[in-house]
Amino acid sequence: MIIAIDGPAAAGKGTLARRLALHFDLAFLDTGRLYRAVAHEIIRLEVDPNDIKKVVLVASSLEPDKIEVIDLYTEKIDEIASIIAAVPAVRKELLVYQRNFAYSPPNDKTGAVLDGRDIASVVCPDASYKFFVTADLDVRSRRRYKELQENGRKSTYAAVLADIQQRDERDRTRKVSPLKTVDAIVIDTSGKSPDAVFLRALEYIEGDQLN
Ligand code: DC
Repeated sequence: MIIAIDGPAAAGKGTLARRLALHFDLAFLDTGRLYRAVAHEIIRLEVDPNDIKKVVLVASSLEPDKIEVIDLYTEKIDEIASIIAAVPAVRKELLVYQRNFAYSPPNDKTGAVLDGRDIASVVCPDASYKFFVTADLDVRSRRRYKELQENGRKSTYAAVLADIQQRDERDRTRKVSPLKTVDAIVIDTSGKSPDAVFLRALEYIEGDQLN
């Protein structure tokens, strides 16, 4: 079983993906972490994000299984990850790992849940289930702002909103693997609890399995 979950930033993809993976005992991959890890390296090595050759080299030397639990959720990483995710050669470098994870999941799992932007369209077009998780811009910005505050980061709601808007625009309009709905079940998480979102997805999967 492969479950693909796509959607814009801070829509609640990760929360749903984790819950489904736990419920069905599947492997879980947050593919945004791969792009974030490349961005982290670019910042650490002081590589110019517009120097495509060097950026691709960083992406090709990433060892996804070795990404440490470092904070990949800073505003700087948000920005650089979104920029380098628009580079076709970077996406190509990261694709092999994602496909391999989906079709040969680790730890003898019988399937996988992947979340990102192009899972249903590019990484696993033949996924068993495809969800597109979204929420109002205001709701997503509030969630992200709360997260930053909880992590002791200084920011303003207006800055977070502007940042998410800019990233959404970049993710949706890039030429390669843009964020799009494809043939997915759309779940709008605005005003819904994580439980309600999970139950909606579960209802869909279980209903489908009964047919
Ligand atoms: O989901 P996230 O915010 O952690 O993703 C970080 C960035 O990586 C975001 O700007 C979009 C990009 N990304 C992508 O282009 N494709 C994916 N499958 C996952 C993330």
